[in-house]
Amino acid sequence: MTLVTTPMYQATTRLFVSTTAGNSVTDIYQGNRFSQERVISYTELLMGQTLAQRTVDKLGLPMTGDQLKSRVKASAKPDTVLIDLAVQDESPVRARDIANTISDEFVVMVRELETPENGSTPDARVVVEQRASIPADPVVPRTGMNLMAGLAFGLVLGVGLAVLRDLLDNTVKEAKNLEDITGAGVVGTIPLDKERRKTPAIAFESDNSAIAEAFRKLRTNLQFLAVDNPPRVIVITSSVPSEGKSTTAINLALVLAEAEHNVVLVDGDMRRPSLDKYLDLVGTVGFSSVLSGAVSLDEALQKTRFPGLTVLTSGAIPPNPSELLGSQSARMLLNELRSKFDYVIVDSTPLLAVTDAAILAAAADGVLIIARHGHTKRDQLAHAVESLQNVGAQPLAAVFSMMPARGSSSYTYQYTYYGEAPNALRAPKKVAAAPPTSKPVPTDGALDTSDAASQSASETETSRSGGRRRRQDD
Ligand SMILES: Nc1ncnc2c1ncn2[C@@H]1O[C@H](COP(=O)(O)OP(=O)(O)OP(=O)(O)O)[C@@H](O)[C@H]1O
Ligand SMILES: [Mg+2]
Repeated sequence: MTLVTTPMYQATTRLFVSTTAGNSVTDIYQGNRFSQERVISYTELLMGQTLAQRTVDKLGLPMTGDQLKSRVKASAKPDTVLIDLAVQDESPVRARDIANTISDEFVVMVRELETPENGSTPDARVVVEQRASIPADPVVPRTGMNLMAGLAFGLVLGVGLAVLRDLLDNTVKEAKNLEDITGAGVVGTIPLDKERRKTPAIAFESDNSAIAEAFRKLRTNLQFLAVDNPPRVIVITSSVPSEGKSTTAINLALVLAEAEHNVVLVDGDMRRPSLDKYLDLVGTVGFSSVLSGAVSLDEALQKTRFPGLTVLTSGAIPPNPSELLGSQSARMLLNELRSKFDYVIVDSTPLLAVTDAAILAAAADGVLIIARHGHTKRDQLAHAVESLQNVGAQPLAAVFSMMPARGSSSYTYQYTYYGEAPNALRAPKKVAAAPPTSKPVPTDGALDTSDAASQSASETETSRSGGRRRRQDD
C-alpha cells in the first residue's frame, strides 16, 4: 500500500479572527465572544465551494473547485479565535501556494462579507497569522502506520489460519487418539530420521540416536504385551502406503536381533516388496517361491550382514497374492518359521489398499498397526482397524511413525551420556538382577524423558559377552 500510494504533502496556515473592539471591558469581552462565534462559520467558508473556485481561478490549477475543496481542511481551536488551515497536494510547492492563496482570498472574502451596506468599517476581519512553508515530508502514505497495520493484520490472519488448520486437521497426532481408534496401547513412537531414507537399517551396535532408542523402547514395551502368551509372529501393517511399515519392520527385527534373539524378517508385501531393496538382498527367491514349491524354505532364507537376522524376501510377484497368503501352505510356512526362530516379523501391505495384511494378521500372533504422525487420517485408521476386525484380528499394539523431532536437544544429551559413557561408566558392570516386570508397565508409549532415561540406564547396564552387548531387558 505504501508503495502504490501517491505521496501527498501538507501545507498549513493559521488565521486570526478579530473584531472591532470598543474601549470598555464589556465591549472587548463581547467582541471576543463575537469572534469565537464567527470562527465556526469561517471554517465552513474556508472549506466551501466559492473559495475553492476562486483559488483555482487565481492559480490556474488543473483541477475543479470540487476537487480542491476535498483537499482543504479547516479547524477552529475551541475557545480561541484561531483557525488552522491545511491543504494537501502531490507537490509540496503547490500545497504551499494553495494554502497561502486560500488564506489571502479568505481575508478578502471576509472583508466583503463583513462590511456593512453603508460602507463603514467591517465588523470583523481575518489576519493571516502564519503563512505556509514548503513541507519537507509527505503526510501520506504513513509508512510506519501501514507497516504496523500490516504486521497486526498478518498476525491475526496467521493465527486465524493456524487455528483453522488445527480445527480441520483430522490426522492422528496424539497417543490417546491412536489408542482410542485402534483399541490398543501405543507401544512406540518412532521419530522422523532423514538418515533412514538412505539406509533404512539402523546400526544398533553403535547407534544411540533418538530413533535407535525409540526402537529399543519399542522392544521393551513389546515384551510387556501378553506376558502369558508372548506374541512371536508379528505382522506389521498400517492403513495407507508409505507410513514406514517396512522401515519399522526392519528395525524392529534388528533391535530384537540385537538382544540376541534369533529373528526372521518376512516380506509379506507381495505387491510392492521393498525389504530386498532396503537390505540389498536377492528379491526373486522368497515367500512366494516357497509357497509355489519352487524352492525349499531353507534355500529361500537369506542370512544378512546383521548377526541374528535372517530374511525371507517376498519372491517373484505372483498374480494372486491374497489367495497365496490365505492358503494353508502359507499358514504352515509361518508355523515352520515360528518353530525355527524366536521372532517372526512380517512386513505387509496397507490395510485399506488390499486384504493381504488382514489375511496375514489372521494367521499371526499379533498385529502392530502403524500410524504416521500427523499424516494418517483418523477415519483411515478406523477403517483399517475395521478391516482387521472383519477377519477376527485385533491390533496387538499401535506405533507412531515419523514423529517430527521436538526438543531433540534433551535426548541428544541423554543418549550421549548413557551411550558414549565416560571412562568411569565404561568399565564393565555387574548386571543388577532386577526383573523387567518390576518396572511399571508403560501405558502410553510416549517418549517420556524420565521413562526413556530409566530405560536407557537399565539397558546400558550391560555385560559384554562375545563382543556383543547383552541387555538387561532380555
Ligand atoms: N522413521 C523414519 N524417518 C524418516 N523417514 C522414514 C522413517 N520411516 C520410513 N521412512 C521413509 O518413508 C518412506 C516410506 O517408508 P516405508 O517404505 O518403510 O513405508 P511402507 O509403509 O512400508 O510403504 P509401502 O506401503 O509402500 O510398503 C521411505 O522413503 C522411508 O525411507
Ligand atoms: Mg513397505
